Formats: sequence, structure tokens, C-alpha cells
Amino acid sequence: MHATATMNAQMNTSPAQATARAPVASLIEQYQPRILRLGVLLSYLVVSVLLYLGWTSRGEQYLTAESGLGYALGIAGGSMMLLLLLYPLRKKLRLMRHVGPVKLWFRLHMSFGVLGPLCILYHCDFRLGSLNSNVALFCMLTVAGSGLIGRYLYMRIHKGLYGSKASLEELRRDAQTLKQELAERVASAPQLLERLDVFEKQTLCEGAQLSTRVARKLTLGFRLWRTRAALRRFIREEIRSQAGTQTPAELRTLRRSLNRHVNARLESVRQVAGFSFYEKLFSAWHILHFPLFLMLVLSGIVHVFAVHVY
Ligand code: HEM
Repeated sequence: MHATATMNAQMNTSPAQATARAPVASLIEQYQPRILRLGVLLSYLVVSVLLYLGWTSRGEQYLTAESGLGYALGIAGGSMMLLLLLYPLRKKLRLMRHVGPVKLWFRLHMSFGVLGPLCILYHCDFRLGSLNSNVALFCMLTVAGSGLIGRYLYMRIHKGLYGSKASLEELRRDAQTLKQELAERVASAPQLLERLDVFEKQTLCEGAQLSTRVARKLTLGFRLWRTRAALRRFIREEIRSQAGTQTPAELRTLRRSLNRHVNARLESVRQVAGFSFYEKLFSAWHILHFPLFLMLVLSGIVHVFAVHVY
């Protein structure tokens, strides 16, 4: 492979050429595989530890739902679940269009959607109680669980968690741009391009039978991982064998840059292949999520009424 030489040529591009390539650089950034950010990962970890501690000490009566901190946690959890409704309201009501960015309300929705139920679990000491409180508890857990599934689906059809909704046409266009650019960049590495084309063909599986399509969908994660690993190895070995006069630092930069481009190309194909599927799932999720939410509101009202009247 003469990818090194090809890359060198690209490193010496004129300012005009560099400007023309700028959108490709942002596409490469946009299509890097998404890894959970450290902050998100840490908050999931803290919530899991709190769930574990609450569950293992249930029944020890540190808190009681009727008074003190236990009661306060019930009010806090209930209030958070009311406050998280400001997100759908901010999104839908014209009246609220000046009340902060939607992104912020969405972030708040997801945080309160986890913290609210956590407070309620401590409020009820992780145990079942009367029929009305059990119904409210199960509705809450179902809606919160459904919210987490919704978050996953939402991410698959938006440009990041807080970006605008993507469209299949746009994704196809991006995938095509990344493909063309990479083909130019490593024109003299046909094995690399062939391997990517095979992955694309198998993943998009246009015209294939249903059983083949299902099998390929199920193995997508594994095929993606295997192809990425093989191409990383290929790039590393080729660059090493063609090292020439470049410094180790230059070769490292070159390898990273090529790896990122290959990652972006693979990720763009994966997104094109999954988009319609996730879009359908997300609209089905919306249809299911709303009645679940209404059940939660109803059971919450009955619960609050019952505990204060009887
Ligand atoms: C008890 C807790 C929760 C309640 C009561 C709740 C309620 C709602 C409601 C009423 C909607 C609007 C549905 C519609 O437009 O049809 C919604 C949307 C959504 N919720 Fe929640 N939710 C909760 C927890 C969560 C959690 C924990 C997450 C994720 C971490 C989450 C993520 C989402 C997402 C992704 C949407 C769709 C946003 C969109 O289409 O713009 N929710 N939720």
C-alpha cells in the first residue's frame, strides 16, 4: 500500500484545498463511534450503587414513608416527576418557546426521570405496600424504564443526544462523501477499500432475503468490531512497512487520522442500515410511552389522595 505517500500528499494541501476538505473533517468527527461520556458513566455508576445500597438495606426501617426524611423523599420524587414534564411542554407549547433551550429541558427531563424514581424507591424503602401504592410504583418503574429505552432509540436517529433529527437521505449523502474521500485518500490500497465495500454490501444487504437481512442485523455489532480491528491492523502494518523518512510522531498522526476516517466510514454505513428500523421503533415507543405516563399520573393522584384521606 502507498497510503503513506498518498497521505503525505494530503498533508501538503494548499489552504484552498484544506478549506474544501473542512466539511469532511467535521463529518469524520461526527461519525466517530459514540462512547458514553465519563460524566454520564459516573452518574449511572452512582445511581447503581445507590440502588444496590437501598435494596440490600430494605426492611431495616432507616426511613419511613409517613414522616421525616422518608416523607420528604416522597415529595421530592413526586415533584421531580412533575417538573420533568416541563420538557414535553417546552417542546410543544408555543407559549414556552422563550423559556430556555430545549436541550437544557431534555437534560433535566432525563436527570429527574432517574432521580425522581430513585427518591420514591427510598421513600417506600424498596418494599411493596398497599394496592394503590404498588400500582403507582410499578407504573413509575415502567415509565422510567421505558424512558431509558427511549433514550437509546432517540440517540440512534438524532445527531447525538442533543442534536437535530437526522434523515435517511442526509445519512446516505454523508456515507457517500466519506466513501469517496477515503477512496481518494488511500487510492493505492485496494485491499482496504475492498474490505470496506464488503462490509457495506453485507450491512446494507439490499435485495437480500428477509432471513439473511435478520441474520446480518443480529451480527452487525460483531462484524463491525471484526472489520474495524482487521483494518486497524492492516493500516498499522502497512504504515510500518512504508515508513520511509517520516518521524515516528508523523507516522502516529497518519495512523490515527486514517483509523478515524475508517471508523467514520464504518459508522456511517451502520447508521444508514439501522435508521429506518430505529425510526419505526421510536414512533412505536412514543405511542406506548404516553399511555404508560397517563397511567402513572392517575395512579400517583390516587396514591396521594388515599394516603392523606384514609
Ligand atoms: C418517571 C419518569 C418519567 C416520566 C414520567 C416521563 C415522561 C415523559 C413524557 C410525558 C414524554 C413525552 C412523550 C411524548 O411526547 O409522546 C417523554 C419523552 C421522553 N422521555 Fe421521558 N419520562 C420519564 C423518564 C425518562 C427517563 C429516565 C429517560 C431517559 C433517561 C427519558 C427519556 C425520554 C425521551 C428520550 C423522550 C422522547 C423525547 C422526544 O421525543 O423529544 N424519560 N417522557
